Amino acid sequence: MTQPDYAALAEAALAARERAYAPYSHFHVGAAVLTAAGNIFLGGNIENAAYPMTICAERVAIFSAYAAGEREIVALAVVTPTDDVASPCGACRQVILELAPHSTIILLNLSGAQRLVTPQDLLPFGFGPAQLGR
Ligand code: THU
Repeated sequence: MTQPDYAALAEAALAARERAYAPYSHFHVGAAVLTAAGNIFLGGNIENAAYPMTICAERVAIFSAYAAGEREIVALAVVTPTDDVASPCGACRQVILELAPHSTIILLNLSGAQRLVTPQDLLPFGFGPAQLGR
């Protein structure tokens, strides 16, 4: 496969940020998933007055791809309004490791900072399907 268009995926993540529902933190995050089929799925963080019910942009985008029947995630772009790029939370790392294990993750901020990481970078020695014999 040719190199995925990371710039286009970053643009999609930026657009996804517009759809974030973050009335409590006002911290709008955008994510975009590229699948092997060439489809892009968007996610913004979705908060709740019962704060722990909040779901991060990364998981919204990944679950959206899975809900559409996609199973092979090639890349995931995440845009945060931070000074440097931010890194996904622990819950998202766990989900990324299982649902997008071979993906390239592109972390971006709004000022052009960019960093590429792998699921294994984010969660080394993680618990996964192999521990359950899958
Ligand atoms: N958040 C994300 O959506 N992704 C991240 O990588 C970090 C945090 C969200 C959760 C919450 O809605 C807000 O950002 C502040 O933590």
